Order: sequence, then structure tokens, then C-alpha cells
Amino acid sequence: MHFNLSRFYSDLLEGFQEEVMIPWRTHLSAHGFTWQRLAPILFLSTQGASSTYHNDNSHGLVWQVHGTKTFHSYLDPDKHLPAEAAVIGETTAEEPPEHDAAERQSVTMRPDDQLWSHALTPHWVTTETALAMSVTLSHGGLCHQGRFSERELALRAYWDENPGEAWAHDLRNVRY
Ligand SMILES: [Fe+2]
Repeated sequence: MHFNLSRFYSDLLEGFQEEVMIPWRTHLSAHGFTWQRLAPILFLSTQGASSTYHNDNSHGLVWQVHGTKTFHSYLDPDKHLPAEAAVIGETTAEEPPEHDAAERQSVTMRPDDQLWSHALTPHWVTTETALAMSVTLSHGGLCHQGRFSERELALRAYWDENPGEAWAHDLRNVRY
């Protein structure tokens, strides 16, 4: 199908730095957050598409822009994937493992819906409309008043022991 990308250049991408990134960074700073990197990632997908089952090393603020996607994760991630397994990427697979549907948390996202994807928690994403677009603001090394999240601490501990792997895993998955 045809998709008019130029419409998004004017509606979304033009002014993105001034209208989204700078206000968001200012908001985080004002509330005592620091980070090591913070960058937007644009996702385009078509109906029936599914991401891999994976976890990310960064916290993501997922912002649905066009179409509908469902973001699937677990109510109790610890039960499905310990932090120590997440930091070495044991999650990565085409499909999530067999699980009880009642343990899943599936959030349907429509335009302008936003969701926080906690670093190192397993998830997968399905596309429900002909076309869907979302932007994720990816937060690497996010720290609040000097404190990392619990799972980020596990990642830091692993990187302390394996410094050659620090920051090297973000692109290990071809599809997110
Ligand atoms: Fe992800």
C-alpha cells in the first residue's frame, strides 16, 4: 500500500527536537533524572507483523502515532525472566514461550497513547491495523537522584564484570 511519509515529516518529524526532545529532557532533569543517552527510534509496521520476543537494555517511552498496536508483557516479569537472564539476552526468540494468558499484560495502543517499557523486561508487540507507526524515546542509563532501577543495577553489575559488552547489545536484534 502507499503511505505518505512526507505527511509525517511535516506533522511529526519537523520540530521534533524543539517540541518533544528538549521539553522531555527538561522535564526529566527538573525531576532529578540523569541518563547516559536518550534518543528517539521510529517504528513502522504492517498488519500481522509481530516483533520478536525480547527485552531492551533501555527504558522506552512508547508513543503510538498512527494505527493500533498491542504491547504484550507479563504482570510479574520476575516470574518469567530473572534479571540475570535478561542482561545476557536469554529472552530473544521469534515467539514468547508457552505461558498462561492470565499472566500476560496486553495493552492496546491507539494514536497518542503512551506506555513505559521498563528496561530488561520481556515483551513483544503485534500490529492490529494495516499500518502502524510509533516512536520510542529510548533512555539508556536512566538514573533517579543517583539510583538506578533494580534491573538496570543487574545490567551494570554484569557490565562491570564484562566491560567489553557494555552498550554493545542494543542492536543485537534485527527486529524489535
Ligand atoms: Fe522492545
